[in-house]
Amino acid sequence: MILLDGKKTANDIKLEIAAVVQKRKKEGKKTPHLAAVLVGTDGASMTYVNSKVKACQKVGFNSTLIDLPEDTTEEQLLHEIADLNKDKDIDGFIVQLPLPKQIDEQKVLMAVDPSKDVDGFHPVNVGKMTLDLPTFLPATPYGILELLERYKVETSGKNVVVIGRSHIVGRPMSILLSQKRNVGNATVTLAHSRTHNLKEITSQADIIVAALGIPEFLTGDMVKDGVTIIDVGITRVEDASKTRGYRLAGDVHFESVSKKAKFITPVPGGVGPMTIAMLLKNTLLACKNRDKK
Ligand code: GUN
Repeated sequence: MILLDGKKTANDIKLEIAAVVQKRKKEGKKTPHLAAVLVGTDGASMTYVNSKVKACQKVGFNSTLIDLPEDTTEEQLLHEIADLNKDKDIDGFIVQLPLPKQIDEQKVLMAVDPSKDVDGFHPVNVGKMTLDLPTFLPATPYGILELLERYKVETSGKNVVVIGRSHIVGRPMSILLSQKRNVGNATVTLAHSRTHNLKEITSQADIIVAALGIPEFLTGDMVKDGVTIIDVGITRVEDASKTRGYRLAGDVHFESVSKKAKFITPVPGGVGPMTIAMLLKNTLLACKNRDKK
């Protein structure tokens, strides 16, 4: 069994980005600038956004954190987005999801200027991705492609099962892996909560991407020997033995599945750090795109 080390790979990518940023600075070019909008005080979201800001510092980007209260109205958030769209120094920005219930997520995502949408969530960018046109790929699926590429996991002609059809991970992952691209050309099955006989389907899979958000859902009896496992889940599970009161659990029962897997991502330290690295890569791309304007 080989661990797909997302932490190390993400660090490699950050070093590559930092070198490009340093060169840009020497040449008098603009320093990439990412902004992140956080609404409310959800613990996991705060952790993610702080990690994103910290990662910016590490590679030499400028970063701005816009921290809004839980009771922010949709109108107020749309104003913030309009300001970020206009701000010439901001190359890209993200609005951390989920949003409080008084805010319509679709309206917010549609308000982001597609050229600054480094999450790749705007319908224009989703459309471009689907049509194989150059655009910002959503960071989590993009990170998974990068991890598979750097560890030379063959995808062409393989049976891939993606579990979970979220707009952020499962759906784009299924599209990207089926495309005619370097890491792609797979035969993809997108399984979800209404799927019948899931175990029969996962047992045939060469690669499984588990992105359903149910801790330790995928167990050893559901997979074949030699499978590659990508675990996207990261749920806080109560654990009194930990000082912080919880542990982080993936969607994969690591102990049983890792016995049969050829490649497997750990949780934490697998997909999570890759997501952040790819967000930085998208921000650098947004900045380079703006050089030409
Ligand atoms: N919430 C969970 N994943 C993501 C992500 O990739 N981007 C944003 N903006 N919010 C998220």
